[in-house]
Amino acid sequence: MTLSEQSIEDAKSHALAAIAAADSLEALKEVRLQHAGDKSPIARANQQLGSLSPEERATFGKIIGQAKGQVAAALEAQTKVLEAQRDARVLIEERVDVSIAARRTPKGGLHPLTILTNEICDLFLGMGYRVAEGPELEAEWLNFDALNIPADHPARTMQDTFFIEPLDSHLVLRTHTSPVQVRTMLEEEPPIYVICPGRTYRADELDATHTPVFSQVEGLVIDKGITMADLKGTLDHFARSIFGPDVKTRLRSSFFPFTEPSAEVDFYFNGRWIEWGGCGMVNPKVLVACGIDPDVYSGFAFGMGLERTLMVRHGITDMHDIVEGDLRFTQSFGTGVK
Ligand code: DAH
Repeated sequence: MTLSEQSIEDAKSHALAAIAAADSLEALKEVRLQHAGDKSPIARANQQLGSLSPEERATFGKIIGQAKGQVAAALEAQTKVLEAQRDARVLIEERVDVSIAARRTPKGGLHPLTILTNEICDLFLGMGYRVAEGPELEAEWLNFDALNIPADHPARTMQDTFFIEPLDSHLVLRTHTSPVQVRTMLEEEPPIYVICPGRTYRADELDATHTPVFSQVEGLVIDKGITMADLKGTLDHFARSIFGPDVKTRLRSSFFPFTEPSAEVDFYFNGRWIEWGGCGMVNPKVLVACGIDPDVYSGFAFGMGLERTLMVRHGITDMHDIVEGDLRFTQSFGTGVK
């Protein structure tokens, strides 16, 4: 390019036109490279100044300097305009409506039966007991024989017990939590203080008061010098903390193969006696079957249904409510399913 006033004027007006036409910051960046960068016409004109005579250099130097100044000013002004446009657009595009209702994910909560189980475990843990658990699919020997329940005992019949095929596997769905007593005594040396909550199974139809899958809690204490007074005191404390400080318990003599003597435990609640569960002093035959010397140690055991406990405490009249999992039932316990 030969240097002339016109050529510089043209370069400048091209630059100004391109700057005015740039409609985004990205486009303007491109324009800046083309019209104000090192290879732009005005920069190249500037590079030619060195080969001019001193007078021409002064003249063209001034013209080029002014052109550069105008282009730079126009670039700056357009940058501001485009930045303001971008900011305004972002404010609209990225607007957050803080008044929109938050989306709530249901948190889930514990079933009332689980809450009761935890409450009972906490109570006994506080008295130095340990929580013991066993499998729901249990050896027939542990569910019956070791508990002194003979082979011809009615509880073993097909109507009551879910036997597992093949029958010679001798596995059953445990009909009570009492086999956990046996497991504990086989595994541990006395003193033993355990509370055993768990799911149990019997071939019952589901109706307002029965369910084939239910839950029990079993207590077992084996130590030196344990008497029935210890059992009664423990049951009193248990009943009072579950049903209220004024609740009384009574023992009615009964029979269980694994306790001797045996009793049913009732509690007095809302003006009537209610059957709660079974209990007794651990039968020496059971102690022997579990390798514990009945001349040194004695113990008590008790077991009760958790559904029944929950139903009485909360005035629930239909077992279906407990087993069906309708959230409206669970929510009425304020268990946090929100
Ligand atoms: N296992 C008995 C049942 O399911 C309940 C029971 C009775 C448990 C007496 C005990 C006990 O620990 O001593 O009917």
